Amino acid sequence: MRQHISHNKSKRWTQDSRLKTRVRRQELGTSSLGSRVLSFESQSPSLDLRVLRGLTIGVIGAGTMGQALIGGLLAQGVPTRALRATDASASMRNTVRRCFRIQVGDDNRHVVRTCDVVILAVKPQQFPELMTSIASGVTSSAFVISIAAGITLRWLQARLPKAAVVRVMPNLPATVGAGFSALAMGRRVTARQRQIARALFAAVGETCELPESSFDTITAVSGSGPAYVFYLVQIWQEAARALGLPPTVASRAIAQTLAGSVRLLNASVEPAAVLVSKVASKKGTTEAALKVLAKRRVAAHFAEALKAAARRSRQLSWS
Ligand SMILES: NC(=O)c1ccc[n+]([C@@H]2O[C@H](COP(=O)([O-])OP(=O)(O)OC[C@H]3O[C@@H](n4cnc5c(N)ncnc54)[C@H](OP(=O)(O)O)[C@@H]3O)[C@@H](O)[C@H]2O)c1
Repeated sequence: MRQHISHNKSKRWTQDSRLKTRVRRQELGTSSLGSRVLSFESQSPSLDLRVLRGLTIGVIGAGTMGQALIGGLLAQGVPTRALRATDASASMRNTVRRCFRIQVGDDNRHVVRTCDVVILAVKPQQFPELMTSIASGVTSSAFVISIAAGITLRWLQARLPKAAVVRVMPNLPATVGAGFSALAMGRRVTARQRQIARALFAAVGETCELPESSFDTITAVSGSGPAYVFYLVQIWQEAARALGLPPTVASRAIAQTLAGSVRLLNASVEPAAVLVSKVASKKGTTEAALKVLAKRRVAAHFAEALKAAARRSRQLSWS
């Protein structure tokens, strides 16, 4: 395992030198979330995934996000014997068994009793039933992490009073190891458990610690974020096709423009507005397009959309 982890790390560390510069810059800047960012980390050398060595990790709910975590941890060198999963659906259990070759079952209490850390990855509306089924098996040594939107630390702690609990808001790119996860620690969480929580989510992307009061905002920004990007791609493709570009060319041109621009943004020390000005020359084509976006108040509409998502997150929150 050691060999595997250090191999993965050296690969990741080279990729991360760019990211580190950016992360450091963001730490120094003012938080756009209106509250203090407690700490920020990508998969960097200071974030040591060896903290996971020897731990048994349980994932309850092996759907999209559960599988993303399982896949990310295995890719980081966590051995199959260290992972256990449950799912309510037999076909999902078969898929997970076949794809990841880990222990999979339907006994949540068994996972809670036998794992050092348990990640709850079922839908928010499935939480009350899940809590009822596992609560009596949760001892004072239990360490439980929830990734459910809107399930607060207070709600979790009230139902699992003996456990150390962490709330996480990951996002869909975790399925390809490029997620962004915000973490809020419950009051019983120890320094080591905090490291473990961060290492688990660093296996699927970048992590950031935030006060829980920022969770509705981060849900609107990065939790829902991938959908804004996919929506933009969808309308961009439609517009390109309407101008006569063959669909396959439009799809590739847009996907690569997006991937290249994100890479440039991550590598650059310039803010986004400066990068915009590097493309848009005076009286040129880009400026003509940007003028239409400004006239139609796209920025104001986008800000309104983010506010609506944060408001909805607040409404759906269980405390
Ligand atoms: N998807 C995202 O982009 C995203 C982003 C951030 C956070 N999240 C959070 O991540 C959580 C999981 O989302 P997801 O998209 O991965 O959902 P999902 O694909 O529906 O996965 C949840 C899985 O849990 C199973 N399940 C339900 N009740 C269970 C129980 N009592 N014990 C064991 N397994 C159970 C479900 O089976 P059935 O289908 O048979 O019910 C399903 O296979 C949600 O709470 C969501 O808020 C998701």
